[in-house]
Amino acid sequence: MKLCKKIVELQNELFEVRKQGKSIGLVPTMGALHEGHLSLVKRCIAENDITVVSVFLNPTQFNDKKDLERYPQNLDADCKLLEICGADYVFAPAVDEMYPVPDTRHFEFPPITTVMEGAHRPGHFNGVCQVVSRLFYITRPDAAYFGEKDWQQVAVIKQLVKSLDLKIRIVECDLIREKSGLAMSSRNALLTADERNVASNIYRILEESVTYASKHSVQETHEHVVNEINAYSELNVEYFSIVNSETLQEINEWDECSAVSGCITVFCGKTPIRLIDHITYKK
Ligand code: PAF
Repeated sequence: MKLCKKIVELQNELFEVRKQGKSIGLVPTMGALHEGHLSLVKRCIAENDITVVSVFLNPTQFNDKKDLERYPQNLDADCKLLEICGADYVFAPAVDEMYPVPDTRHFEFPPITTVMEGAHRPGHFNGVCQVVSRLFYITRPDAAYFGEKDWQQVAVIKQLVKSLDLKIRIVECDLIREKSGLAMSSRNALLTADERNVASNIYRILEESVTYASKHSVQETHEHVVNEINAYSELNVEYFSIVNSETLQEINEWDECSAVSGCITVFCGKTPIRLIDHITYKK
């Protein structure tokens, strides 16, 4: 495995790879890797000749400076995990390597970018699109792998690829959960052991709400989930949206569309740490 910190270094390597007719898979990450990331890397390795993993904590997608400052980082530990996994290249540029001048491009794909994370984290998806488009231009992958945990992000990236007319296959990989049911996230490392225990109730309540939903309205299910989660003093729901899985817009009736999902963001603990999760009500 080779660690590249400069764009030109990685591009020279990938030029040779492409000359040999080999396929390239990219796994974009912000580091602090966990089993969820490694499952993307393993799938990428299985489906491509060469796997590039980017480790870059992208400042332009953080609307909250404190969230950026406390985001866990450990490149050495990440590289060790990636080497064991069998990745070929780690691309870990510095901020001024990725952004030699400020990125003034503006990406918006309404109505997908205006709801949920888009509404609660202004500028977040614009920053994600800035960095992901740069990573795509730098690596020119055949396929790129993203976790289903960031469900709305995957929808935004699919729009990005369409709008830039890039021939990159976007592969959505299953969400990986801890044994307790808590969705794996780099931010989980910031939770205390007690907070982590309490946070596992988020998915339990979401899962149980599928049965509840079969006998109750959309509004009642919404209220039920929010009340059950907020009943824990350490948890505070920022938003819970029951949406059409295709358009990501909120629905009022279960039979309004064929696929329905529930997307939630919960603040957990004293700091507090922002956790996201989702559930499928109708496929
Ligand atoms: O999902 C993430 O970790 C980030 O949003 C991504 C896609 C690596 C872009 O910084």
